[in-house]
Amino acid sequence: MGRSLLILILVMFVLNAQKSCGQYEFFRLVTFWGPSFCRMYQCWREPPVPKFTLHGLWPDNYTRHLYNCGGTRYVPLRSQRSIDARDDYWYDYFLLYPPSARGNWRTEQRFWAKEWRNHGTCSETVFNQQNYFNLAKTLMFMYDLKSILFNPINQIPWPWPRVSDVQSAIFRVTRVRTELRCHYYKNGNMLVEIALCYDVTGNQVINCSRPGTVFCGKRSSRIYVPKNFK
Ligand SMILES: *[C@@H]1O[C@H](CO)[C@@H](O)[C@H](O)[C@H]1NC(C)=O
Ligand SMILES: *[C@@H]1O[C@H](CO)[C@@H](O)[C@H](O)[C@H]1NC(C)=O
Repeated sequence: MGRSLLILILVMFVLNAQKSCGQYEFFRLVTFWGPSFCRMYQCWREPPVPKFTLHGLWPDNYTRHLYNCGGTRYVPLRSQRSIDARDDYWYDYFLLYPPSARGNWRTEQRFWAKEWRNHGTCSETVFNQQNYFNLAKTLMFMYDLKSILFNPINQIPWPWPRVSDVQSAIFRVTRVRTELRCHYYKNGNMLVEIALCYDVTGNQVINCSRPGTVFCGKRSSRIYVPKNFK
């Protein structure tokens, strides 16, 4: 065997190892708060009521960010019933109309396809596509973040609670630190996403790594949490 062939085999081996993305160590379940999301972006449609909807289930590594790990292509849903069911909690605000089984899935299911490609593939060695989407749904319904945030009995001082008010309200129910994600809006930071972290099996909710916020400021900072769409 020639030396160049050996080197070629070695290079292919290394490339392949990178593509497989190594191991993921935990999941982030990232959810949008609709009223915030649609203040940041032009939403073409809104759900009938304000709610948290899924952005994505992201397998990740503590030391290295995992993204677009290769793997199988997205398998579109074909039945209107299953499309409607997923659309209910994994909502594409940029579609003009509810996704339809008769439409072009490349357009109507592009959000789900993108999430699968960019994130789902990074846990495919453990969760095949069907299991990944099932897991995403199960975890999405594990906690009702809307009731936690707008609990009339244990009220947080919205529309401008502190980061710590939101963290504590969720901690009381889940016993874990979540990850709050904000974006600058008008004259402050607005809470746009909440991520819950799960262990590698997807069974156990765990503390997200510190500091537990992205662009929300300090624990004492006030963040804007709009209750309704405009
Ligand atoms: C993920 O973390 C584990 C443990 O630190 C490590 O062995 C593995 O190589 C990491 N994966 C990637 C893709 O960095
Ligand atoms: C998360 O961290 C807090 C301390 O910050 C700790 O009290 C709690 O037990 C941890 N929860 C889990 C599930 O590890």
